[in-house]
Amino acid sequence: MSEQSTPRGALTVRVIAMPADTNANGDIFGGWVMSRMDQAGGIAGVERARGRVVTVSVDAMTFLKPMRVGDVLEVFTDVESVGRTSMKIHIESWAMRFRTHHRDKVTDATFTFVAIDDDGKPRPIPKD
Ligand SMILES: CC(C)(COP(=O)(O)OP(=O)(O)OC[C@H]1O[C@@H](n2cnc3c(N)ncnc32)[C@H](O)[C@@H]1OP(=O)(O)O)[C@@H](O)C(=O)NCCC(=O)NCCS
Repeated sequence: MSEQSTPRGALTVRVIAMPADTNANGDIFGGWVMSRMDQAGGIAGVERARGRVVTVSVDAMTFLKPMRVGDVLEVFTDVESVGRTSMKIHIESWAMRFRTHHRDKVTDATFTFVAIDDDGKPRPIPKD
């Protein structure tokens, strides 16, 4: 499969990777990237569901390229499908490199979010 050259979805989160986010090798923690993806999905999910949502599952993730200190993490979201109370959101993370501004895809995943009411119970997602 050829390498994807442009991101899919809407730019939802943009944040710089700092030294505090590194592991012992000096690279950025995978968990830091995953956390930003969860936040971006939450933003897209709240917008689509017009209210609170929670993450219920994440499909498999493969890290294709490392993130390094000074790179800008850009997270893109695309609501793939909407069920009764849940929705699947395709989320991609890209690294915009510090000096070159070249973009590399770091990882992607499909997150499932569920719309919830004030009691934390699933609630129907409004039709568009
Ligand atoms: C998400 C939660 C509200 C769902 O409650 P529930 O009683 O299991 O709800 P239901 O069985 O009615 O399922 C609700 C929807 O979620 C979907 N769903 C439930 N478990 C799922 C899973 N593991 N993967 C994908 N979708 C799932 C169902 O298919 C259903 O979708 P639909 O209405 O579009 O058909 C509940 O499991 C919960 O609060 N989990 C914790 C969420 C959380 O705190 N996340 C952050 C962790 S730090």
